[in-house]
Amino acid sequence: MHSMAPHAEPRTGQTDTEQSMPLAPILDERIAHTLATRPALLFDLLTRYGSPLNIVWPHALKKNVDALQAVLNAHHVRSEIYYAAKVNKSRALVRSAVEAGVGIDVSSVHEFNDAVTAGATSAHICASGPAKTAVFHRALISNGALVSVDSVEELQELETYCANTPGSRVRVLLRYRPQGSATSRFGMPAPGLLDCLHKIAQLPECMLFEGFHFHLSGYGHASRVEALRELVAHIATARRLGLHPRTVDIGGGLPIRYVESTEYANFLASQTKKHYRNASVPGSFYPYGGSIDACGWLQQLLAAECVPGLSVAQYLRSQNLTLAIEPGRSLVDQAAISVFRITRVKRLGIANYVVFVEGSSFSACETWFASEFLVDPILVPQPGGPSPVGGHVQAYIAGHSCLDDDVLTNRIITFPRLPQAGDLLVFANTAGYQMDLLENEFHRHPMPRRIAATYTAAGAIEVSSDDNKE
Ligand SMILES: Cc1ncc(COP(=O)(O)O)c(C=O)c1O
Repeated sequence: MHSMAPHAEPRTGQTDTEQSMPLAPILDERIAHTLATRPALLFDLLTRYGSPLNIVWPHALKKNVDALQAVLNAHHVRSEIYYAAKVNKSRALVRSAVEAGVGIDVSSVHEFNDAVTAGATSAHICASGPAKTAVFHRALISNGALVSVDSVEELQELETYCANTPGSRVRVLLRYRPQGSATSRFGMPAPGLLDCLHKIAQLPECMLFEGFHFHLSGYGHASRVEALRELVAHIATARRLGLHPRTVDIGGGLPIRYVESTEYANFLASQTKKHYRNASVPGSFYPYGGSIDACGWLQQLLAAECVPGLSVAQYLRSQNLTLAIEPGRSLVDQAAISVFRITRVKRLGIANYVVFVEGSSFSACETWFASEFLVDPILVPQPGGPSPVGGHVQAYIAGHSCLDDDVLTNRIITFPRLPQAGDLLVFANTAGYQMDLLENEFHRHPMPRRIAATYTAAGAIEVSSDDNKE
């Protein structure tokens, strides 16, 4: 099924100087090969599961774990990796993390249940988040999972729980709010941390203190090193109080690269408001083409000076401390693509178009955060569709709802040819918060499907449901 584009002979796009610079996605080799050689498979899957379709590739997660583990091993630090399950609703990815031998960072009782179902043992589950419910606390404590305590109030609640539940003991980390994050609502500044340390020292029968935790916004390693430096004094205080910190958990925030750094820098340097349909350049972006990836980040963190004369790795070793990390996005690098079917291509001006897709921007949701997914979608023409017409054209991409702001891109993208209704747009590398984070059933459209794809030894692709639907 396809319909013709609105004009048989569209005019080509604006002049080159007005076109925005390309942002070609970095794509896993096997996925790229599949897209290039087997487009019919994608069309079949969309026919079967509908649009948009989120295809998860769990094989990628193990590769990412191994790469980070190699950096940690090279620095001889004792380490624990917890996969931050919040990054994607996929259960296949949680299973893949357990199979790769890493723990799971959970932020709700539902994520906790998924982790247990996937086979994670409580010793390898760590719970973060500022507002854990009583049900969540109970599940964590009764199973012996590690709880990162966000506030003096949360510690009080745990104390009450233990007092009312004879024989219970809770394993705790204390979440620190570094000086550089003074306005954050997460974690505790030094005075709260000290109150908690004193309280825990008085309650050895119901609290097992394991160490400190933080998770910071942003993607720089320098802010994490600074937070670690601030924690040095608190680690010493804990020991003076007779406690035995064994872990420092530095959260997530390890960056990934979606596009080549040079291409990204060129894009940023040349973009103007003319490249956006709303004539506005967003104030901030994820570092889509940053200069370092997750392994480089970890390497730089471990090598940075922590205390005079000792790097982070040396300090951790000297204190017999385990470094825990909770990567979300960086463990799902290249672990999903999201595919939208084009419903209509509508001409808006002399040279510009809007491409409507079947699906909404609640799926690829950066525009709802006043930002933009700075990665070009890949246009996959419908096999047997009309012959390509015209040269480069410019278009932004809109979702199918009646909301004016339902746009997958405010950015006006340059396409190599005029997209046609029935063609597909593939958004690469969407597993990290870019799939169905805000998705709902607006207009009563069913939730987009999520399937897991695996390559067999013979190179075939097997797919299975990853959202409890058939
Ligand atoms: C406590 C905590 N840990 C880990 C993560 C994962 O962060 P990222 O996906 O940037 O690695 C988050 C994300 O919000 C978080 O809040």
